[in-house]
Amino acid sequence: MRKQIAAANWKMNCTLNEAKELLQSLGNKKIKWNPDHQSVIAVPYPYLLIAKEYLEKDPHFFVSAQNVYTKHSGAYTGEVSAAMLQSCGVTHVIIGHSERRGYFQESNDMLAEKMDASLAHNLIPIFCCGEALDIREAGAQNDFVEKQIRESLFHLDENQIQKVIVAYEPIWAIGTGKTASSAQAQEMHAYIRFVIAEKFGKEISENISILYGGSVKPSNASEIFSQPDVDGGLVGGASLNADEFEKIINSLKS
Ligand code: PGA
Repeated sequence: MRKQIAAANWKMNCTLNEAKELLQSLGNKKIKWNPDHQSVIAVPYPYLLIAKEYLEKDPHFFVSAQNVYTKHSGAYTGEVSAAMLQSCGVTHVIIGHSERRGYFQESNDMLAEKMDASLAHNLIPIFCCGEALDIREAGAQNDFVEKQIRESLFHLDENQIQKVIVAYEPIWAIGTGKTASSAQAQEMHAYIRFVIAEKFGKEISENISILYGGSVKPSNASEIFSQPDVDGGLVGGASLNADEFEKIINSLKS
């Protein structure tokens, strides 16, 4: 089975003490992991090292950054490189979240560079894609998401693409309480898998985990995750509560 992943995206939330409390609660959970299950916790930069400390006793937990810069090092005040993240023991990085695309004008081309920087330093990219409401209402969501994938992932080689996790996050469902129906999620996930298969072949495509993101919570996680092409979720709001997030981990398909 493909890896089933519950990924937490804390976004810009928690002070240090709050972060410690949340990490401690997560680290102390007695989760009955299925061997194919993982949980990736994407915390703000200042908390990456402590997140590793709190979570390292459970090998199913991984620590992720929420962003990375394209360059290796140098005069780029305020930025953080993939080499730095790797040196801190970070294993994953979120690339192209819609908030970064929207608020920080990250283009598909720039995200292609971020993919390269991450993979060059053995970070596993969680590549986010997804359409805004007007695009869905116009029925153009497949073309839109396909373009995001083509322009940021199609330059990778076969070896590199196999390391990538994709997260489909329809913008209209993020933080709105409005979830895509499980049928809408399945339809897009199957399409993403088809697009990847056309370029890299069916075998590779079948092995890539595709996560759904957008208002995932304990009450809807099982239904969404049960879809054949949905391999878990990227969870914002509900990941800030350890009990809720534990329930979401326990909703992964087995
Ligand atoms: P949400 O965020 O779960 O709060 O909708 C998901 C995300 O943006 O990754």
